Parts: sequence; structure tokens; C-alpha cells
Amino acid sequence: MSFFSHTFPEISAEEAASFIDGGQTIAVGGFTAAGSVKTILRALAERIRTRVDEGNPFRIRLLASASTDSGVDDALAGVGAISYRIPYQSSAILRQQINGRSVEFVDMHLSNMLPLLKSGALGSIDFAIFEAADLSRDGQVLITSGVGAVPTFARLAKRIIIELNDYHPVDLEGLHDIYELDLPPRTREIPIYRASDRIGATRLRVDPAKIVAVVRTHIPDAPMPFQPIDDTARKIGNNIVDFLLAERLAGRIPEKFLPLQAGVGNVSNALMETLCSDDAFPPFDMYSEILQDTVIGGIESGRIRFASSSGLAVSPSVLQHIYGNLPEYRKKIVLRPVEITNHPEVIRRLGLITINTALEMDLWGNVNSTHVGGTHLMNGIGGSGDFTRNGYISIFATPSIAKGGAISCIIPLCTHIDHTEHDTQVFATEYGIADLRGRGPMERAKLIVENCAHPDYRPMLRDYLCRGGAGRIAFDIQRAFQPHGNYTLHGTMLDSPSS
Ligand code: COA
Repeated sequence: MSFFSHTFPEISAEEAASFIDGGQTIAVGGFTAAGSVKTILRALAERIRTRVDEGNPFRIRLLASASTDSGVDDALAGVGAISYRIPYQSSAILRQQINGRSVEFVDMHLSNMLPLLKSGALGSIDFAIFEAADLSRDGQVLITSGVGAVPTFARLAKRIIIELNDYHPVDLEGLHDIYELDLPPRTREIPIYRASDRIGATRLRVDPAKIVAVVRTHIPDAPMPFQPIDDTARKIGNNIVDFLLAERLAGRIPEKFLPLQAGVGNVSNALMETLCSDDAFPPFDMYSEILQDTVIGGIESGRIRFASSSGLAVSPSVLQHIYGNLPEYRKKIVLRPVEITNHPEVIRRLGLITINTALEMDLWGNVNSTHVGGTHLMNGIGGSGDFTRNGYISIFATPSIAKGGAISCIIPLCTHIDHTEHDTQVFATEYGIADLRGRGPMERAKLIVENCAHPDYRPMLRDYLCRGGAGRIAFDIQRAFQPHGNYTLHGTMLDSPSS
């Protein structure tokens, strides 16, 4: 039963977009493409396009929970409408503008954005715009497929506009667990002891007086499709499975296993499929920030017992499958605010096994997951740092090479460091595992070269270690970035025969 009443003005996306002025801060809901706002920011982009044609453009400051679908970042960046963006993105157009320095982008741990916002350090929010499946007269909002930072955005924003999207059924009620933390000194513990614990409300309560408009839509989420799973990703997955099973056999992981977190992207999607299809791997829970198609497959096959996340970034057919079986899925899935999914307290208490993907990993255990060549942003750190730093076992995975072998993803020193040697524990490539726990730098380096690097790059890396400088770490200031230099000059990181 819908609780929606006509208390709130129903207007078109174009009318809603006309409320927004240049220089304002807009906080958009959804989490990745899950529950992303579909029409209002597209309409705003169209309005700004007209203003550009008239020689009178304007730009906005944009906050999101993480990345968005194309109706937000692509649409707005396409007309040059974003001046500032926080905390994560994955839009090719926006990426280009960030790397061209025309957009100021703040790349931050997702769990850190919310306390900062609440404290006022990130300024105020003019409008929170987010999707709802239902809305009651007294401001109880049934959020759709992505919760993200919506509870905090809605509470802090001066005004709220809601896209009431009836593509998402009202029967979603019960899938969410909305819980917000107070600022210190009033912050309380988060009483989650198992991935499946529910501690909050099924609906978000907002001040109804702040809801200035409702825009009706009927549009599915449109997440980016994944690349087909390749042999390399399957091998990485098998190596991780073997490693985790050995940890369990050694008694370092309990018989019933520990909850898993898996990152974003093609490699992570492939890893999850491998984990879910390996008969030797026991059933497990997920406590992650995002659920991709492979997780739903794992739930269907009984490999995944329960999945907690902040969004359902699944393909339209999988979302329909969930919506067609909500009584069952309410027992198997919970959607929480990102403040809770990524909170260090819960990650540490549950003892998560975290698996995230790197662009490059260095010989000392540092990881770059955000900046190609140290200069060009790919997506952002997202939640990878939240999970890695606090995980019980933190794994970073990457193919050993990129761009057909022209790039080694194992290098002497990362050109940009997102995760330091103090936070990482295990590296995995298609060649094997380097278990870095309890090992000093030189031992780590040897393991990483011999177990993880591509054979074509091992001689170069061994040579770097042999000829490195004196001291605890064999760091060579002249040669640490030689592979990157080689790539810039010759199109391959390998030393040319003459050098
Ligand atoms: N140098 C240059 N380019 C590299 C590279 C390197 N060392 N390693 C990979 N790449 C390129 C690939 O060639 C590919 O390029 P293409 O898009 O032109 O084909 C691109 O980076 C993506 O690589 P891919 O192997 O398809 O990885 P992915 O889709 O699994 O994404 C990350 C990997 C690191 C970009 C992605 O996981 C990410 O953004 N991580 C940071 C955020 C995060 O971890 N969040 C998780 C918390 S839930």
C-alpha cells in the first residue's frame, strides 16, 4: 500500500531543475547507479546547455554518495556544469575534466565524508535530490535501490526534491536499515554483530517541510555492464580461494568463515564469481558497500548466506528478479547507509576479509588504486581504504600486467599511494599470492617479485632489489620510477636491450 499523498507539489523534472542556481551545492542520492537520480539533473544539464548557448552558463558543486549513473555525472559534466565534486566518480567525461583541472575533485574515504559534512567542514547543502519508492505525508521516505549518504544529505540539506520512481515497488519496505550516527561526543556504538543484524528503521524520516517538490518517474537503474570474465581474473580468483582455504585449515579463519567485502570493477566481479562457483569454498556472508550481479548469483546458489550493502548495483534483469522475490530477499539482503557499511568499528568487529583491486602494487606493500602514472585519476579511493585498513585479512588483487604487457602492475614504487604498507596484508595476481603479514620490507619485496610479478618483469625487479640503495629498504631514488619512464619513452615498462 502506498502512503503517498498529494501534500507535496508534484512538478516536472524541468520545473524542479529550474529551482537550482549557479554556485549552489547539490547532494544527489543513490549509490553508484543504484537508485541514482534519473531525470532532474538531466533536465538541469539541458537548462545549462541552453544557458551555455546564450553565453550565460553556470556551474554547481556536486556531492554524491559515490559514483552515479550517466544521468548525473555524465549529463552535467557534458555541459561543463560541475565545478566541484566529492567523494568518488567513475564518469569518463568528468574524469577528463578532473584531470584537465577544470573540476576540483576531492578523493576521499567514503566513510570520512559524512562526519566531515555533519561537522560543517564541507560547507552547507542547498538541495538534496534523491529517489524514493514511496513517501508518506509526514516525511517517511522509502529509499530505492541505493542508500549511500541519503540519510545525512536529507537531514543536512536546506531543501529536498524527491524523484518518486514507481519502477521500484512499494514492497521494498523492509529491505533497508536506516541508522545515522551522531557527532562526537554523542556518537554511540553501532550494535551490528553479524552482517544480517538490523539496527535501524525501514524508512528514512525527513522533515516534510523541507520537501519542496516531487517528480514522478518510472525508470530502471542503468548500471554499467561488466566485461566478460577472462582467464586471468579466474586465476586470481582461484589463487585467493586457495589462500583463504589454507587459512581456514590453519585455524586462522573460523570453520564457518568470516564475512567478505569485495570491491568494484571487472576484476572484483570476476573474483566473486570464482569464489561463488568453487565447491571447496564454504557458504559465507557479505558485508560490503556494493552488491554486483555475481553476489545475487551466489545467494541463489546458496553460496552466499546473507549480503549487507549500501546499494544493489545489479543489471535490470537481476533487479527484476529480486523485486519479484522480495519476501525471500528481505531475509537475505539489507541496504544500509554508507556510513554504516564502511564504518571502521563494524568492519573490525565483524572481522572482514576484504578484497579490493589495485592499479599498481609496489615491492614494499603500498598500493595505488586511483592515479594512473601518479597523475591521472581513474575513479577514486572509494571504500577500498575503509575496508583495507580495518579488515581482518586485507587482500589486494590485480592482473600482473596491463595494456597487453606494456605495463607491469608490480613496480618498484607506486607513483601514487592510496594504501600504505601498514594497511595492506596480502597481494594476489594470476601468478600467486604474496602473504605480507608479519614480514619486513626485503622479505616482502622478494615474495611479491617471485609470487606475483609477471615472469617478463621479474629480472628487472630482481635487479632493482639487488642494486638498490643501502638501509632497511632497498630504495633507489634514481631507478624507482624507471619502469614508468620507460613506458613514457618507449611504450613499455621493460628496459630496452641497450639500457
Ligand atoms: N597503469 C595504467 N593503467 C592500468 C593499470 C596500470 N598499472 N592497471 C590497470 N590499468 C587500466 C586497464 O588497462 C583498464 O584500462 P581500460 O579501461 O582502458 O581497459 C583500466 O585500468 C581498468 O582496469 P581493469 O583491469 O578493467 O580493472 P577494474 O575494472 O577491475 O578496475 C580499478 C580496477 C582499480 C580501476 C577499480 O577497482 C577502482 O576504481 N578501484 C578504486 C575504488 C575501490 O577499490 N573501491 C572498492 C570499495 S567497494
